Amino acid sequence: MAEQVPEVNTPARPAQHEKYPWPAPADATVLGKPLTRVDGPLKVSGRAIYAYDVQRPGLLHGRILRSPHPHARVVSVDIAAAQKAPGVKAALVVIQPGKPAMYQGDEIAAVAAETEEQAEDAVRLIKVEYEVLPHVALEDLAMRDGAPSVFEGGNIKSGEAQETGDLAAGFKAAAHTVEASYSTQVQTHVCLETHGCVCEWDGDKLTAWVSTQAVHGTREGFAEALQIPQTNVRVICEYMGGGFGSKFGPDSQGVVCARLSKQAAAPVKLMLDRKEEHLVSGNRPSSASKIKAGVAADGTLTAFDAETWGTGGAGVGASFPLPYIYVFPNRRRQHRDVYTNAGPARAFRAPGHPQGCFHTEMLMDELADRVRMDPVEFRIKNLPDEAPNRMWRKYFPIAAEKFGWSRRHPTGDPSSGPIKRGMGCAANQWGGGGRGTKAHVEVLPDGGVLVRCGTQDIGTGTRTIVAMVAAETLGLSYDAIKVEVGDSQFPFSGGSGGSTTAAAVTPAIRVTAGKALDALKERIAPKLGVPPAQLVARNGRIEVKDQASKGYAWKDACRLLGTEPVTVDAEWENGLSASGTSGVQFAEVEVDVETGVAKVSRIVCVQDCGLILDPMTAESQVYGGIVMGVNYALYEERILDRNTGQMVNPNMEWYHIAGMSDVPKIEVTLMNQPERGVIGLGEPPTISTAAAVANAVANAIGVRVRHLPLTPDRILNALAAQERAGGTL
Ligand code: MOS
Repeated sequence: MAEQVPEVNTPARPAQHEKYPWPAPADATVLGKPLTRVDGPLKVSGRAIYAYDVQRPGLLHGRILRSPHPHARVVSVDIAAAQKAPGVKAALVVIQPGKPAMYQGDEIAAVAAETEEQAEDAVRLIKVEYEVLPHVALEDLAMRDGAPSVFEGGNIKSGEAQETGDLAAGFKAAAHTVEASYSTQVQTHVCLETHGCVCEWDGDKLTAWVSTQAVHGTREGFAEALQIPQTNVRVICEYMGGGFGSKFGPDSQGVVCARLSKQAAAPVKLMLDRKEEHLVSGNRPSSASKIKAGVAADGTLTAFDAETWGTGGAGVGASFPLPYIYVFPNRRRQHRDVYTNAGPARAFRAPGHPQGCFHTEMLMDELADRVRMDPVEFRIKNLPDEAPNRMWRKYFPIAAEKFGWSRRHPTGDPSSGPIKRGMGCAANQWGGGGRGTKAHVEVLPDGGVLVRCGTQDIGTGTRTIVAMVAAETLGLSYDAIKVEVGDSQFPFSGGSGGSTTAAAVTPAIRVTAGKALDALKERIAPKLGVPPAQLVARNGRIEVKDQASKGYAWKDACRLLGTEPVTVDAEWENGLSASGTSGVQFAEVEVDVETGVAKVSRIVCVQDCGLILDPMTAESQVYGGIVMGVNYALYEERILDRNTGQMVNPNMEWYHIAGMSDVPKIEVTLMNQPERGVIGLGEPPTISTAAAVANAVANAIGVRVRHLPLTPDRILNALAAQERAGGTL
């Protein structure tokens, strides 16, 4: 099943599209305006239908029985009693006897019943005999000599060592070296809407309402898993409550739901509960490093040597980019993926980048300290050359000025009292290019405009920017456009991953709406007695260029179509989008050295994403990314018991995420680059927050906590260790 983030290569700066270029910002009437979401009223009034909300006549409810053991062989599964339980209409075994359950939560069997409670009760009647096997749930246990094997062939998969330049010469040129270890936790997916779907069969045709980031990919996934033609599957996702990389396919619960529905000959809803969500719906893998790095007396980086590892659970890798952004001319890195008996990793908002950013940016501050340079000046000195997708040299000073970086005290807040304040910074980069989307535009005789595209709005505002692009192209206001997305029967668009959606979808809309307008002009021009090329669409009118009085109001123009609408199908073309974003973030924190509680008070962010279509939805992406980054810095952590391998916080009470009072003041400066065309923004803003926060905490308390999340125990332990070592506060 497609769970990878799509990789897309488009240039950093495209040639302008010849026929339908983006308007210059000064000429745009819709694009670049901070417009609220077209579906905002539906969402806030509860009328938007999510998979969770889908109701069908005779709807049954599915539940899955899951392995309580992190590692066990399933000897037998007996569903007879469950099948006879009240209300039960279908039951099936998911795992074949003899096969191992690889982590707590692995699927064993499932039932569908008339009510959720009956399904819950019936699941308890399933009898499973397990042969419990030795397990290793944590990477340090898995890496020990003689550790039980998760898979045959051992728990460690070593990558090739990557080496560039002359490491020995690099260390020889160093005036100072830093040796340090850093690590980050496993972060589980906590989409507000959990994973799941409603499945309904009509003969051999399946309709599935799925909470998904990819309606077409999920159609493919269902067809493959159920061995039915793709033409027999329709996937619908009108609204969904977040995916962040975890929702690209039907998943096993989707396939189970479809099979239960088939067996019961009735529609079935199967949504995961929060515990299942934490256990099986994917996570950001852990990361750990042992790094030795060198810096010359003038602050030039000379060498970088790292051993890294991490766990993506049962069978998934844990790679991350390192070093991140800054230029270490001589470097070596050796990475190992460690397998454990724990829920497998998945793509997670900017996969790998927050980890690579944290390790590198922590190291950068330590190296800057050695040469007694200001951390911002030190970073700028060691950045790669500027390019449209590498603008940090420009952004660092802008953000530093806005933030008030000059007020930063040397490491260790000298003020008296328990609250210590500190400042830190970090940079980010991402791709965000996209392509390969098709669209359908209809201009109807009553003036209505329908835009259909088989993309999906995963909460980012896709419907809104689609409406805006069509409106800009047709000279209308954005609420005059009817946008339909989220259905595999609409023209193809890829999964909404890798921040590819805006750059994949909006050029397709621009081209298709442009062609629809051309077709409309062809049909109107004879009535005005001018060539079609002399007509323009603006201010809700079709009129002759330089002769505004000669023309029609949009509705009157469309009425001339008679009974036959304009319909155009077209697709993404080069010249309207690009790839490669850059940004920087500055964080200010307050740490209570008596309780160890850290709080982020402020984040200042400078970020680009090419041509900014809607500053309001774009800023909203940055807010969301930063809040997620604050969570990664301070709160979120999957905690597995060393001995039992059980997750001890699989809920939203003990798996902490920020509440309203934990959200800092966030100041966003978006850098518009209209000449680059559209670039996605979903992922970059979450990359550098945790690194900036961790550097700020070190600056506040005068001791570096090198492991995320920065919980009170880690902060107090670091302070105590420093005191034992004779340091002062
Ligand atoms: Mo994402 S991790 O590209 O949905």
